[in-house]
Amino acid sequence: PAVVHVTGARPNFPKAAPVVAALARAGVDQRLVHTGQHYDERMSEVFFRQLGLPEPDVDLGVGSGSQATQTAAAMVALEELFTAAPPRVVVVYGDVNSTLAAALVAAKLQIPVAHVEAGLRSFDTTMPEEVNRLVTDRLSDLLFATSPDAVAHLGNEGIPADRIHFTGNPMIDTLLANLDRFDADRARKRHALSGPYAVATLHRPANVDATEDAAALVAGLHEVADQVPLVLPLHPRGRARLEEAGLGRHPAVRVVEPQGYVEFLSLVRGSELVVTDSGGVQEETTVLGVPCLTLRANTERPVTITHGTNRLVSREDLPDTVREVLGTPAGEHPAPPLWDGKAGPRIADVLTGFLR
Ligand code: UD1
Ligand code: UDP
Repeated sequence: PAVVHVTGARPNFPKAAPVVAALARAGVDQRLVHTGQHYDERMSEVFFRQLGLPEPDVDLGVGSGSQATQTAAAMVALEELFTAAPPRVVVVYGDVNSTLAAALVAAKLQIPVAHVEAGLRSFDTTMPEEVNRLVTDRLSDLLFATSPDAVAHLGNEGIPADRIHFTGNPMIDTLLANLDRFDADRARKRHALSGPYAVATLHRPANVDATEDAAALVAGLHEVADQVPLVLPLHPRGRARLEEAGLGRHPAVRVVEPQGYVEFLSLVRGSELVVTDSGGVQEETTVLGVPCLTLRANTERPVTITHGTNRLVSREDLPDTVREVLGTPAGEHPAPPLWDGKAGPRIADVLTGFLR
């Protein structure tokens, strides 16, 4: 095949969809690999269905495990696959372990790597994602950036300018393409919500892995729920620990399963504010104009603060910040540059030029 896309975890799917679609329109011979890093129907299949992604040509069934176990399992399976039928270019997305695994394997087989969402930096190497970003970018031949800061970081790291393409944000292509399907009234009905509500999603190890962090988080979320009903589509990672810490025992907290893409963004669209530690959700709220409170000390997506609705908050400051946001009308924000729904076609143009 000319192009092999490697995906594996929830945030990969909305990024890959517009690139795969644009290459299909250009008649490029492409295959879609799913590593199987995420495998629950609600973490994977639902996105393929809702986003019109073709069924993966292969699912490597990697599954869960430690950082090394998961990355290594994906590498072994990908090496076999790329050796049997070498693609001319491997396209990887974002910063998950499947991304790193594919970049490492392709680079060592001397297959060019294209990285979609290159150059984002939190400068916090305690996050596995930051390590994945640094290594993937270093190994990539084509680097597709979603924001000007990302372009600058890549330049500062000595990546030659001719490899860097500022093509915009494909996750926002998917958001804009599906905007008509985000139905806040249906979401309200589904979750039996009558008045204003907030949405929270949390899954970062720093927030949910340790018992003390989970307890502090739950205390903060309950103080939010004292002010506004809170719907929490819970990622499988944090679920057990947050529930042990008492999440859901507050009458105004509704813990629900991970939502499908359309259902989730319908909920977000109708909400007063979002509390999150997700990367993608910081971007989506920016474009939807929904206030976003990010429970992290840093973000690799600073345009969501400078151009969007996002702000970083500590667990301690969360309740007061929520009070402030609920009392302030949401202002207008210009979208970040090139978050215009055309990133997929721009990326596809560069890729087809490369293949020529
Ligand atoms: C991964 C990414 C993270 C991304 C997140 C998106 C890495 C290092 N992390 O984190 O950047 O923000 O996906 O959602 O790649 N599990 C299930 N069902 C599933 C998948 C996972 O129950 O379908 C549970 C398992 O207990 C697993 C845990 O979730 O051990 C964590 O999954 P994993 O893929 O290792 O990392 P995430 O925390 O999902
Ligand atoms: N998302 C979803 N259902 C949910 C929570 C998130 O469809 O219950 C979507 C969200 O809108 C975004 C993507 O999943 O498109 C983000 O993935 P996630 O937060 O898991 O990963 P991150 O962006 O933090 O890497």
